[in-house]
Amino acid sequence: MNPEVTLCLPWSNQHPHFKDIVSLDSRLMAQSWDDKQWEGGENFSVFALRDIKTIGFSIYQIAPGDEVAHLLKIAIEPSYRGSSVTQEFWEVMLMTLRAKGVKKIYLEVEVTNKRAVGFYKRVGFKLLHTAKAFYQNGEDAHKMELAI
Ligand SMILES: CC(C)(COP(=O)(O)OP(=O)(O)OC[C@H]1O[C@@H](n2cnc3c(N)ncnc32)[C@H](O)[C@@H]1OP(=O)(O)O)[C@@H](O)C(=O)NCCC(=O)NCCS
Repeated sequence: MNPEVTLCLPWSNQHPHFKDIVSLDSRLMAQSWDDKQWEGGENFSVFALRDIKTIGFSIYQIAPGDEVAHLLKIAIEPSYRGSSVTQEFWEVMLMTLRAKGVKKIYLEVEVTNKRAVGFYKRVGFKLLHTAKAFYQNGEDAHKMELAI
């Protein structure tokens, strides 16, 4: 197994990995996106993690001229989690974001998503603030940041 990381730019619903990523999103994410949220994809940087098929993805929003990337989503197939695959995926993303001039990554995550919070802490994210009832379902969010 030798998974590859691809930066999917320009991102659009014509992209060859688009359907795979939408399908992973609906299976793996607690708050998956509807069609409308996938529109406007030209503003995203999307990384696809591929083995024989797409096994993970991440999506960042980087405003033009901004040094902060907002991590909107990251997900990896359960059978690949907890292995070096996650770490390698993360390191390639960091290298690519640095090369794009990004200096910080910012994110929000449900406080109950213990595994994701554990992952973010492990790679060095610091807790900025916990926002009460941040999500539509009433859940609180940790707002976190990492200097890269
Ligand atoms: C978030 C995600 C990409 C992280 O990848 P991963 O391979 O699971 O991450 P890792 O195993 O490298 O790291 C998780 C860390 O959290 C820890 N952890 C796992 N379960 C935990 C729990 N219930 N409570 C606290 N910590 C936990 C692990 O021990 C690990 O830390 P360690 O390596 O120091 O032991 C993956 O879990 C995923 O796809 N989750 C579903 C989608 C999602 O929720 N995405 C985040 C919101 S956008």
